[in-house]
Parts: sequence; structure tokens; C-alpha cells
Amino acid sequence: MYFLDVNGSSVEVPAAGQMPLLWVLRDILGLTGTKRGCGSGGCGACTVWVDGKPQKSCGLDLHAAAGCRARIVTIEGLGAAN
Ligand code: FES
Repeated sequence: MYFLDVNGSSVEVPAAGQMPLLWVLRDILGLTGTKRGCGSGGCGACTVWVDGKPQKSCGLDLHAAAGCRARIVTIEGLGAAN
């Protein structure tokens, strides 16, 4: 079990640590505004904000995202973040 701060809320994520953040957001948390493009870090379709900096969520795994205790903001949370 991992815990993430997503769009200002702390959420529990029952998934394996190696799962890409992209799939955590879309398939577990239902935040489908984050899109899959190339899946390999080249296009930026999966970009989210991690502690205020853009990060490609296809290249960041759940373990790393939870371990750094970052504040993650998706497109769904942008209105609330501003
Ligand atoms: S899906 Fe293209 S950079 Fe992540």
C-alpha cells in the first residue's frame, strides 16, 4: 500500500511499486485527464506537476512518487491549484 498526495488529497494506492504513475492516476484513481501517448518519455502527453515541476508520469513509478512525498497535480487539479 502506498500513499500519494494528488490534487490536494491524500490517497491510498493498493498497487505494486513499479506501476507507472500514469496508470496509477488513470486506472486506480480514475484521473483520465492524464493521457498516454508514446509511453516512453518522448511526447509529454502524460505530464503532471510534481512539487510544481512538470514530470512525465509514464517514467515515474509509484514507489518513487510515494517515496519523495511529492504533491502531485493532474489536469483535474489545476483549477484548484491556482
Ligand atoms: S506518454 Fe509520452 S512522455 Fe509519457
